[in-house]
Amino acid sequence: MQPDDPILVTGATGMVGGQLAQQLRGDGFQRVLTPTRQQMDLCDAASVDRWFAQHRPKYAFLLAAQVGGIAANVADPVGFLENNLLSAVHQLQACHRHGVEKLLLLGSTCIYPRECPQPMREDSLLTGPLEPTNEGYALAKIAALRLAQAYHTQHGMQCVLPMPCNIYGTGDHFDLQRSHVLSALVKRFVDAVEQGSDEITLWGTGSARREFIHVDDVVAGMRLLFDRVDDGQIVNLGTGEDLSIAELATRVAAAAGFTGTIHWDTSRPDGMPRKCTDVTRLKSFGFEPRVDLDEGIRRTVQQYRRLNETGSTSNK
Ligand SMILES: NC(=O)c1ccc[n+]([C@@H]2O[C@H](COP(=O)([O-])OP(=O)(O)OC[C@H]3O[C@@H](n4cnc5c(N)ncnc54)[C@H](OP(=O)(O)O)[C@@H]3O)[C@@H](O)[C@H]2O)c1
Repeated sequence: MQPDDPILVTGATGMVGGQLAQQLRGDGFQRVLTPTRQQMDLCDAASVDRWFAQHRPKYAFLLAAQVGGIAANVADPVGFLENNLLSAVHQLQACHRHGVEKLLLLGSTCIYPRECPQPMREDSLLTGPLEPTNEGYALAKIAALRLAQAYHTQHGMQCVLPMPCNIYGTGDHFDLQRSHVLSALVKRFVDAVEQGSDEITLWGTGSARREFIHVDDVVAGMRLLFDRVDDGQIVNLGTGEDLSIAELATRVAAAAGFTGTIHWDTSRPDGMPRKCTDVTRLKSFGFEPRVDLDEGIRRTVQQYRRLNETGSTSNK
């Protein structure tokens, strides 16, 4: 990519898109295009086509999606399937129709089969039933990845398809409807400390195992893969290390200064029993994550405390 190339980043009001756009601009790319939903509604084919015709991006980072934790997925299965399917189809069609040279589309490790062998390898995709609590999101993402690969096969579109594990960090959401597990835990524990509460009840059994990557490492990984890959192969983007939600809760509690008792509401779903990526392929491109989990938790606790002072729910 040259400094004056027009580079589209969709979803730039969100966590990952916001960080990528900021870092690209900081590195001297002068034409990083970050249309808002009002300027380009990805669920509206005409709006997407109009925007691409006018702005003609050369490269595209397609990061927008309806994203959320278990509660949000369960509450809006139509939205997660329909909006993500429509927006992916519209973005890929427009990239092809308007001559985008290379695109990156983010998958997610949530879309591997519920019972797939761990750690999850890229070739596990579509080998078994999905986790029911986020099936709509997963089906839409799988269709999007396969469509991108079809554009590569049939039309030679250069595609980069990273599969990130749970992402957290700057720009994450703390409102409990939209938040993911790590930011939700940070909010719960910091709030409990501030309210002087000495008991906390968390969803599930705490036994589910998850892997977390800081958004700064996601941005670094996406940029590395964008330079090194063009053939539509899927590449896991994670740390390759997982821990139980109970252990994560203990670490977040310590960072927040919570010394009370943690209860588990076992009537609530755990989601997939384990999600950890095999990062062999990622490492073959020379990637190493830089932000250690405890350091990332510490920063996130600080950011949430700062946001509390300003009354916001997202730490952009
Ligand atoms: N967060 C994770 O743990 C995680 C893990 C794996 C993969 N991913 C993938 O990473 C990408 C970015 O996730 P994120 O966590 O940064 O999400 P996020 O913070 O929720 O941001 C989502 C972005 O998508 C935009 N968007 C959604 N629907 C849109 C539409 N119809 N038209 C225009 N814009 C729309 C949102 O715009 P508004 O501000 O207008 O709503 C926002 O800018 C997604 O593709 C997600 O699937 C995320």
